[in-house]
Amino acid sequence: MATSRPLLAGNWKMNGTRASLSEIAALRDAVAAGRTRGADVLICPPFTLVMAAADLCAGTGLMIGGQDCDAHPAGASTGDVSAEMLRDAGAGAVIVGHSERRAHRGDTDAVVRAKAEAAGRAGLMAILCVGETRAEHDRGETLRVIGRQIDDSVPPSASAAGLALAYEPVWAIGTGVVPSADDIATVHAFMRRRLRSLLGAEGGGVRLLYGGSVKPDNAAEVLAVEHVDGVLVGGASLKEAEFLAIAEARR
Ligand code: G3P
Repeated sequence: MATSRPLLAGNWKMNGTRASLSEIAALRDAVAAGRTRGADVLICPPFTLVMAAADLCAGTGLMIGGQDCDAHPAGASTGDVSAEMLRDAGAGAVIVGHSERRAHRGDTDAVVRAKAEAAGRAGLMAILCVGETRAEHDRGETLRVIGRQIDDSVPPSASAAGLALAYEPVWAIGTGVVPSADDIATVHAFMRRRLRSLLGAEGGGVRLLYGGSVKPDNAAEVLAVEHVDGVLVGGASLKEAEFLAIAEARR
């Protein structure tokens, strides 16, 4: 575990209805009761719940974020939501470059970079995701792929406070398979070096998250890896009790 304040983030993906707001309210109360032990805690529900969730959590230690944003502030872009709109709805952060959007929605590195820049302009922290596919991993291309994604999608103007970089190997997402602690450490050390050369001193302060099948029973090990400053959790963030167990697993 690195020395910065950890960031524990949940990505609900396309899950959640108004009934799910009770999970967010319960997590808000657990954060207020100190059960997440000083970590920054963020939940990214679908767009339909962002404003209601942000209202529930206003002025508390639980931050609400979006799962994506458009790169433009407003305009003729049916179905999209801008970073400014998320900010207006009460969000404090937004995920950009998730592999599901890279793979299914055509988000290139250049698009991801434009979205991250838009997040910065709107005053949102960008949680920028990178990660190799199973085929790239098997060909030994992990660091080459991550290096390219960082170089081409991290805005050169990014600050430590405005950016978190999440390593999410595509083959670990939703599969129950997690890379070894050594492999996570290797990738995270590489990401740290790359960010330093790209952003200078600011790159040393950007929080590095791991995401992909994080559960209560592996969270302690993942969070103890060097250069891991937090986690980005999918399925296990949907229920307050499971997400809280991840937070409480921190050594
Ligand atoms: O963004 C989080 C994610 O892709 C990991 O999902 O369900 O494997 O924790 P999951």
